[in-house]
Amino acid sequence: MRVCRNFASLVLRKVRAVTALALNVSIKGKIMGMVLVLIISFGLWTTLQIRHIVGDSMSKELGNKAISIARDLAARSEELVLINNTYALHSLLMDTLENNPDLLYAFIINQNGRVIAHTFQEGFPLQLLEVNQVLEPDTARLQLLSTEEGIIRDVAAPIAHGYGGVVRIGITEKSVYRVMDQVSESVITIVFFLGALGVGLSYLLTFLMTRPIANLVSATEDVTRGNLERKARVYWDDEIGRLAKRFNEMTGNLSRARGIRDKLLKKVISAQEDERRRISRELHDEIGQALTAMAVQLKVLEKEFACSTTAVTRIEAIRSLTEETIEELRRLSAQLRPASLDDLGLITALKDFVRKFGAHFNLEVDLYTRGFENLELADAVKIAVYRIIQEALTNVARHAQANNVSVIVEYRDGYITAIVEDDGVGFRADSEEDLPTERLGILGMKERCHLFGGSLTIESSSQGTCVYARIPVDGGDSSGGTGGNG
Ligand SMILES: Nc1ncnc2c1ncn2[C@@H]1O[C@H](COP(=O)(O)OP(=O)(O)OP(=O)(O)O)[C@@H](O)[C@H]1O
Ligand SMILES: [Mg+2]
Repeated sequence: MRVCRNFASLVLRKVRAVTALALNVSIKGKIMGMVLVLIISFGLWTTLQIRHIVGDSMSKELGNKAISIARDLAARSEELVLINNTYALHSLLMDTLENNPDLLYAFIINQNGRVIAHTFQEGFPLQLLEVNQVLEPDTARLQLLSTEEGIIRDVAAPIAHGYGGVVRIGITEKSVYRVMDQVSESVITIVFFLGALGVGLSYLLTFLMTRPIANLVSATEDVTRGNLERKARVYWDDEIGRLAKRFNEMTGNLSRARGIRDKLLKKVISAQEDERRRISRELHDEIGQALTAMAVQLKVLEKEFACSTTAVTRIEAIRSLTEETIEELRRLSAQLRPASLDDLGLITALKDFVRKFGAHFNLEVDLYTRGFENLELADAVKIAVYRIIQEALTNVARHAQANNVSVIVEYRDGYITAIVEDDGVGFRADSEEDLPTERLGILGMKERCHLFGGSLTIESSSQGTCVYARIPVDGGDSSGGTGGNG
């Protein structure tokens, strides 16, 4: 019982696997497979049907033929039996045998039950005598004999109403099989040609049908990769053609929406950067100056109250707090918008940031730059590259638990490449769906790259993470301010 159940579940699993395999083949494969199965089953069925019908009618025909040969022999041998001319009887039998290729044997039994003439070369088989006999004086009797040579139709026909004896003949079915084989051969040939024609036509049909689908699939893949400009080709105005038209309309709408979104995003980023610059300047120039003045005043006060040690200690404490606040303010101001980025260019600002970052988080950070000599970069590009590296490094500090980080920034062939690589714990960076939705750092980096027509890829494993950004310097709208050196 248990073995049966195991076997059934094994068969079920195999059937499921084969079905899944069949369903997973391409549409072309499915249609061609169906046409082939249809043609083969139709061919088999037709061949069997025709064999059956031809076989049936030929068998009847053969029975009638056997009876008529036997009757004819009986009529022709009547006289010869009466005068007991065995020689002539033998000749008659041999002639009949010669003229009828299907005839296997013929013999004549006289009134006394004795075989007086036969066609057997190697002696008469006596057992034949018993297998068929005439039952009614005027009627020939057909009997089917199953032998090693196949079915034999044995006919016993009375001579002179039974008074002259009996003629017996045996006819084989070989001609029936021969005709059936010929018919089957012809049917199979026709089915084969029809099948080839069917397969050819169905191949053409599936080619015509699947070409637009394949084109649509490739357009969809391109759009999934972010190329919203890709259009599906409309071959005909059928269902697939209409689907392609709707698809093109949809990607057109998406492309327009993305254009508007990109413009808005650029504005938001530019406004955000302006605001950061304003706050940074204000922090530095206004509050920073005020705090510096306060520190100077405290120094003066310290001297004035030099006689009171308690007052000096307190003033000193306030002054050092003020200086710490000034330092923190500078750091905050630089983080918001490093003045060096505007004044001294991207590379100086990056060097400055990397140095302070390494010191602050106690990390070994190598910075390698190349190709920026005499390069004029638009403000928006400088800010984008700076912010991407800033976010990537912040992520290393926050999540990677790394010991070493290397930053490579390079300009070559119209592209800026920024690589930030760490030897930390890594994370699953296969797809954006894996990232928590409230995390915006990586998405922000990607958006900044895409706005310039660039790309950002992240490779991560338990050995570390590598952020790879590539931005075309002339691509996208790099407006946003005057150029500074790289
Ligand atoms: N270098 C890295 N090493 C290990 N994990 C990282 C690294 N960079 C990013 N991650 C993982 O990817 C996640 C998403 O990073 P992302 O910068 O988008 O968000 P966040 O840093 O957590 O938050 P924020 O939105 O403030 O940037 C992080 O929470 C962290 O788990
Ligand atoms: Mg982050």
